[in-house]
Amino acid sequence: MGLSRKDYEGKPVIGILNTWNELSHCHSHFRERANDVKRGVWQAGGFPVEIPVISLAEVFQKPTTMMYRNLLAMETEEILRSYPIDGCVLMGGCDKTPPGLVMGAISMGLPCIFVPAGPMLRGNWHGKTLGSGSDVWKYWDELRAGNISEKDWQDIEEGIARSVGTCMTMGTASTMTSIVETLGFCLPNAATIPAADSNHPRMASDSGRRIVEMTWEDLTPKKILSQKSFDNAIKVLMALGGSTNALIHLIAMANRAGFPLSLERFEELGKRTPYLVNMRPSGNFLMEDFHYAGGLAALLQEMVTLLDAEAMTCTGKTLGENVKKYQIFNPDVIRPLSNPMQKEGGLVVLRGNLAPDGAVIKTSAASPNLLKHRGKALVFDSYDDMSRCIEDPTLDVDKNTVLILRNAGPQGGPGMPEWGMLPIPKKLIQEGVRDMVRISDARMSGTSYGTCVLHVSPEAWIGGPLALVKTGDEIELDVESRVINLIIPDEEMRERREKWTPKSEKFVRGYGKLFTQHIKQAHEGCDFDFLEGTAHTVDPEIH
Ligand code: FES
Repeated sequence: MGLSRKDYEGKPVIGILNTWNELSHCHSHFRERANDVKRGVWQAGGFPVEIPVISLAEVFQKPTTMMYRNLLAMETEEILRSYPIDGCVLMGGCDKTPPGLVMGAISMGLPCIFVPAGPMLRGNWHGKTLGSGSDVWKYWDELRAGNISEKDWQDIEEGIARSVGTCMTMGTASTMTSIVETLGFCLPNAATIPAADSNHPRMASDSGRRIVEMTWEDLTPKKILSQKSFDNAIKVLMALGGSTNALIHLIAMANRAGFPLSLERFEELGKRTPYLVNMRPSGNFLMEDFHYAGGLAALLQEMVTLLDAEAMTCTGKTLGENVKKYQIFNPDVIRPLSNPMQKEGGLVVLRGNLAPDGAVIKTSAASPNLLKHRGKALVFDSYDDMSRCIEDPTLDVDKNTVLILRNAGPQGGPGMPEWGMLPIPKKLIQEGVRDMVRISDARMSGTSYGTCVLHVSPEAWIGGPLALVKTGDEIELDVESRVINLIIPDEEMRERREKWTPKSEKFVRGYGKLFTQHIKQAHEGCDFDFLEGTAHTVDPEIH
């Protein structure tokens, strides 16, 4: 290795777990950034070793990166366990990498700090600002309606992602990095620094310096996390109008840390936390605007009275101490508590005979007139079934129809692909319809919008009530009452249940088999049953 004893003797070994790969465009600056981290580690008297771990590149992996979040968590835990590492830097950003890395690091329990990839710069097209994902869905509908040309579409594609970094709307990546910072794993305001900003490498080397100190201090996740830090994270999720995916990831991370979370807790805290950050897809602005308006730390300072400011963080100081000096520079982007976007959080948990274990809707990105709705179901049994029908001009559908996609849950997808923002049928798009009530056991991208009821649990594949719906049945959605129901007599429901037959196994071998045998449901966080909890893993005997 070309190292001399002077390089490492007496120094803590700092593992830099890097989720870079050439298909992970959100992390394409991470090789360079790992060197910035190393610079900091060397300066602080540590011995840095960069270790590649699986990268989960949202737009390229089939059927969904969610299938591999737990694999990244396992890899993180076992790498940290099996190599001689004293502390670690977790480098992630694209949707599933923050929870995957943090879950593994919590389970292993070594001191760790998280370096977020940072959001991309704003997109541009024809003088308009483009936001990742959200404007893809918006202009794709305009393309289908014949309102823009193929050439326009190509220009949008070339203008929407113009730098390294993660999606710059309040998608899952920005939501999760903000949550990871709130939990205490990042330096203050790290989550919102744009990837291409020179403050980003500065933050990376600061993180390298800090992890060496943390290692000497033995500041482990156990000393940082508490029930209060997870409550803080839920409140920040609500204030951000963040991604629905965060519910699943927060439940999984909390379970790993030994602080079980239920959907009720989200509901409870959501009712007392205003939605404050005016970001797409729910609002108007993008991550660059958020950062220059003061960033996440300014938001935390604004809502400090709603948080537990005593929660510990990786700086060795409390959350309250970390954010004291930050302020809001643009109150249009980060609204003060006195002028929220909405009085309650942007995510609501629903229940009813269609979702006995819960479902979620992002009200901040839904159409207010559809939040109380009754309509006839149009059911698709699979994504392929839906794709075949949705462009059909003779499809029997109108704007009041409730579109249902099933068998897209944790086992059925598998991995709950982000199919929950079902496309509006082409014939309705051409009539000018841009939103409808849609229900599924899938997830949706944090950049998506519309009146989409997601994560219906239990999922259809294992016999949840969604499996029993027939086209033409009446569906009731009432967000204010937190209700989602299938309007059929109980007797009819029982008969349909008796006739339902279980599906055959999707996989006969390999990771797919392990996944479908052990994956838990959406309301339980979709972790593997054998990875949950905090029990100590016994090191194998070495012979
Ligand atoms: Fe990586 Fe959106 S594709 S964050």
